[in-house]
Amino acid sequence: MGLNIEKRLSADGSYTLFNTDYEESYHSLRDGAVQETLCKHIGPPLRCLDLFLRPKIRILDICFGLGYNSFFTIWHYLSNGYQGEIEIYSPEKDGGIFEKLLQLTYPQDIAFLDGVEIKKILLSLWKHGVYTQNQWKIECFIGDALEYLECFEIGFFDVIYQDAFSPDKNPELWSDRYFCRLFALLRENGIITTYSQKRSVRDAAERAGFAIYEIAHEGMRQSRVF
Ligand SMILES: C[S@@+](CC[C@H](N)C(=O)[O-])C[C@H]1O[C@@H](n2cnc3c(N)ncnc32)[C@H](O)[C@@H]1O
Repeated sequence: MGLNIEKRLSADGSYTLFNTDYEESYHSLRDGAVQETLCKHIGPPLRCLDLFLRPKIRILDICFGLGYNSFFTIWHYLSNGYQGEIEIYSPEKDGGIFEKLLQLTYPQDIAFLDGVEIKKILLSLWKHGVYTQNQWKIECFIGDALEYLECFEIGFFDVIYQDAFSPDKNPELWSDRYFCRLFALLRENGIITTYSQKRSVRDAAERAGFAIYEIAHEGMRQSRVF
């Protein structure tokens, strides 16, 4: 592992990372990294919207980190018989993270994703910025998320996973201006997921035009969708 990133075991037995520059882990250690991914990001849009009836689903994953949100989305959608196309777009400013990801033991469900070894997918994302297979693709932009957001048309995304580090540590990805941009990029009948329970996040999202809903999870802290 690099100097600023350490491996951590989370409550559900899955590994995540801890970043000593931000002094934060990439997932909730208490809720469990995989449980957080599935319950707070992947599940709620599927319960709230008719996503499986759409021929193509475009997801913005802010930001890539270990790629759990992106990889488990592909795994979950394919396991549940989704027949359409899935496109995931994910910025990540720390290009160095890929070296660490290649040393990590990924959860068994995604160790081979759609029959392909996860390390092969990670290598392709690192070296080429994209991995495409059959009905799905993941694009990973190594650079600043704010710059990346300028590349997309209004209403491009069906779903946005808002999973940056916390507002105190990563303020550029929770500002009023940022949420206004997300509002523009999300299509009608689109949805944003986030783990953050902060009042200031709720206020910023409301000012941008979103309606906010709290989601309760058994044995885990609440999350939100806008
Ligand atoms: C909480 S982690 C994301 C976890 C990830 N969603 C997953 O499933 O593993 C936050 C990530 O945001 C990245 N990040 C922070 N600020 C960024 C920015 N301005 N642009 C792009 N990436 C950023 C960090 O390097 C880190 O990898």
